[in-house]
Order: sequence, then structure tokens, then C-alpha cells
Amino acid sequence: MYKAENLSKSYISKRKFSQLLKKRDKKKVLNNVNLNIEKGKVIGLLGLNGAGKTSLIKILTTISSYDSGKIYCDDMVVTPKNKIEVRKKINLITGGERNLYWRLSGYENLRYFGTLYNIKALDERIDEVLSIVGLTDSKNIPVEKYSKGMKQRLQIAKGLINNPEYLFLDEPTLGLDVHISKEIRTYIRKLSEDYNKGVLITSHILEEIEEICDYVYVLNRGEIISEGSIADILMEFKKEHSFKITLHSKREMEILKEIMDQESYSYDICSENTINILTLENNELELHRIIRENNLNIMYFIHKPPKLEDIIMEIERR
Ligand SMILES: Nc1ncnc2c1ncn2[C@@H]1O[C@H](COP(=O)(O)OP(=O)(O)OP(=O)(O)O)[C@@H](O)[C@H]1O
Ligand SMILES: [Mg+2]
Repeated sequence: MYKAENLSKSYISKRKFSQLLKKRDKKKVLNNVNLNIEKGKVIGLLGLNGAGKTSLIKILTTISSYDSGKIYCDDMVVTPKNKIEVRKKINLITGGERNLYWRLSGYENLRYFGTLYNIKALDERIDEVLSIVGLTDSKNIPVEKYSKGMKQRLQIAKGLINNPEYLFLDEPTLGLDVHISKEIRTYIRKLSEDYNKGVLITSHILEEIEEICDYVYVLNRGEIISEGSIADILMEFKKEHSFKITLHSKREMEILKEIMDQESYSYDICSENTINILTLENNELELHRIIRENNLNIMYFIHKPPKLEDIIMEIERR
């Protein structure tokens, strides 16, 4: 287990006026944060821009300092003295295309980063991580010729090079297309399921991490304001997925309505051929299956996932 206990951090900003008075302004960015990362689990850290996600991940990965609290890596308390030892057990993956050498091939990039860790049998390890992220066949191609998705998969391979037990991912799908993001998330899920890594992933989009996280922390202005499974959080704040489905005929609507009654979905009837289905989980695939199996003709299918903003507004309102 990787653990944060009552972590707090302030940044000191010097303002011109207070500088004159020789005073420094303190800005609290993390306030008593408690969080656990279990091996084999994907943990989500959700927060809007500026919530403190990157600050927290930098502290957890020993890059930044903090004012008070404790960090544990398994049974070891993380201190500046043992951070080299801790860094052997963890790694950080950030979104975007920085930190890779574009002129070098995927293999050469990994060889370079691997030597920084002084890994024995590095070539074997490189082959292993390339196969985990499905880049074996493109390992000798320069990274500048990789697609965005391939570059991000190489970032994941880079994060795996030291065979860490805990992986920290800071918005790994930022700026990627919907389908590429989905593909990256599949690889992230695999890391916990097949390789027993403890994974922490940050995002500002609830829908994005809903499908892969076992447990989620909501960070707002440096404080954890809610935690649990996404379904628990949605239930607590009564924010649901809404599926607006318009069918071709009134008769088909009757059929769908009957099925929804049997399956105990909640719904509103909007018109004679339009229904609005509300669920706490993302049941898009399930609904598509029901529609297909009953030969229903869809005119429109609109999925409105719940938004993190709405949950945070609700928490602040309460
Ligand atoms: N080095 C720094 N000095 C002063 N303030 C900082 C510093 N780094 C971050 N901050 C402030 O700390 C707060 C949290 O920033 P942080 O980058 O951790 O948020 P975030 O949740 O990662 O946001 P984003 O979604 O935009 O990446 C922000 O108000 C930011 O302006
Ligand atoms: Mg950030």
C-alpha cells in the first residue's frame, strides 16, 4: 500500500507590496490529504483545473517537498533520505509528448531511460515493456513517426521500465482523441489487473476514469471532498447518466418501456417515441445490446454523462 497521511502544502508567493513589507503570502494548495493506493487497484484522483492534482502527485513521487503529513511506501516512511530507494518502487507518467526523444526510436528511448535506472538485463526488460504496450513491431521506428496514441503508449512503457510497484499517471489522456484515450485506458487497466501494479491516475473528466477506477478521490481546492466508487459518489450526489433515446415508432417505445420496467431502470417518458433513461452506471453498451436484440430502430441516441463540475457544485452547495 502507498499511503498519504494528512499531507499539507503551501506555496509561498512573493507579492510586490508584501515584499516591501518583507512579508510573504502563503497559498495553501493541499490541506490534510489522506489517500491510499492498493496494489492491483486503479485509484482515481479527480479535480478541476488548479485543484492540486499535479502538486499532490509530485509530492507522492518525491519530486516536491511538503509542509506536514506523512507518506508511506509499503511499511517504509518516505523521507528525503530514502527517496532513492522509494524511487526504485515507483514511477511517474505524464500526459503529452514531452520527455521523449523524437529522433530516437522507441527502443532507443527506453534504452536511454533504462540506463538511468541501472537495470540489469535491460534489453530483456525493454522487450517486456514494449510487448505490454503493444509496440514490439514498431520498436525501431523513430518516435517522430509514431501516432499520438503510440507516443503515449511509449510513455507508459517508459514508466514501466524500472518495473515499479506503484505507478502515478498525471492526466495520461490529456489532448488525445476519444478512441485513443480509450485504448490508453485499456492498457492502464491491464497494469493493475495483469501485473498487480498500484495505479493512481488524475483527471478532470469524470467520465474518462469512471470505467477503469476501483476507487476515486475528489480533490477540490486542495481538499479531498468526497471518496468512494464512482457509483457511490454519483448516488450520494444524485448525479446520473442520462440516455435520451428516440425510436422510430410508438409501438417500439412500448417494447422498450416494458423492458426498462422489467430491468428496473428509472426513466421519464418525453414524448410518444422518446424516453430518457437514468442510471448511476454508464450502461451505454447494455442499452445498445437491448436495442439490438429487440430489433428496435433508433432515430437518436444521446448519452449525457454526469459532470465533475456538477458534483463539485452540489458538494459546495451542501
Ligand atoms: N510552483 C508553484 N508556485 C506557486 N503556486 C503553484 C505552483 N505550482 C502550482 N501552484 C498553484 O497550486 C494550485 C494547484 O495547482 P496544480 O497544478 O497542482 O493543480 P492541478 O489540479 O494539477 O491543475 P490542472 O488540472 O490544471 O493540471 C494552483 O492554484 C496553482 O496555481
Ligand atoms: Mg495538473
